[in-house]
Amino acid sequence: MRNGPLPHLGVTLAHNHIIVDDIEHSPVLTLNLSHELAASPPAVAGKELHLACDIATALDVELERLKVAGKKVLVRVDFNVPLKDGVITNDNRIQAALPTIKKLIADGGKVVLCSHLGKPKNGPEDKFSLKPAADRLAELVDTKVVFAKDDTVVGENAKKAVAEMNNGEIVVLENTRFRGADETKNGENLSQELAALVDGEVFVMDAFGSAHRAHASVAVVTKYITEKGGENAVGYLMQKEIDFLGNAVENPVRPFVAILGGAKVADKLNVIDNLLNKCDTLIIGGGMAFTFLKAQGYEIGKSLCDDEKLDYCKEMMAKAEKLGKKLLLPVLRNATNTCNLCILYKVTL
Ligand code: 3PG
Repeated sequence: MRNGPLPHLGVTLAHNHIIVDDIEHSPVLTLNLSHELAASPPAVAGKELHLACDIATALDVELERLKVAGKKVLVRVDFNVPLKDGVITNDNRIQAALPTIKKLIADGGKVVLCSHLGKPKNGPEDKFSLKPAADRLAELVDTKVVFAKDDTVVGENAKKAVAEMNNGEIVVLENTRFRGADETKNGENLSQELAALVDGEVFVMDAFGSAHRAHASVAVVTKYITEKGGENAVGYLMQKEIDFLGNAVENPVRPFVAILGGAKVADKLNVIDNLLNKCDTLIIGGGMAFTFLKAQGYEIGKSLCDDEKLDYCKEMMAKAEKLGKKLLLPVLRNATNTCNLCILYKVTL
């Protein structure tokens, strides 16, 4: 993690409150926010903010400075890849984690990867297994990769696989969400077990797409690594995104166009408001676009809509106009359909 203060985006975003766990795909916002507020989290912030503060303050070691030779290194990656009939249809997330993984291997670490995949609701299910991701990783690296099939994630199979590792090898653990609430409600058990699996030696956070989740394998695990005298670091992917997005938002090359997606307007109230102050054009896509379109008076059929936020959307559109900013929405393709409507992503800048 770089030294010195991170951009002040978080403070602006958080002047009232923000639900860190729900800023989908915006871990950088989360990290900035939590760095800025780590010293004195606002009273209005929820548990998630405190947890995010824990993550951000714990990730103080740069990957370059870690000495991992012979050490067990737990790496939280985001291998939440799309699968069709058990086959990965896009391996971008695995590819994105390679720089960190390869660096740790080259330095002689014993690399233990953990991730979630999908949203299993009923405990372990084969269709959510991380095995396909482990198999794909094995094709991309020049070292041994063992998939530790283990419904409890850190059970006997996992322990055995880790115990048998040589320096520079990789073990991929099973889907952390097979542990249900132990993972998603930030259970202490799973955090402790994960830290213990690597003897509390090193934790590297490189799950860019998951950094907003206050989950056990993302957040509290850092506490137990620290308690055991180990080191917590941020990986290359996370660092790249933090550097890039931090600069992009604080010192943008203009015209600065921001694109925001996701399903729920409610989760992004402060983000939309704040981005309108900073960008020249804001493009709203994804599910939340329908709420804006309905606020404009369009018939949106049964499409996703957050009716409680219609007034907010109107307010944002008025704000954009007042500030002379463009707020662009998709074009509705079929306004009479009573089913979910298709939207055409055709925008003119
Ligand atoms: C994603 O795909 O957005 C990340 O992997 C996070 O997944 P989640 O929304 O299921 O936590």
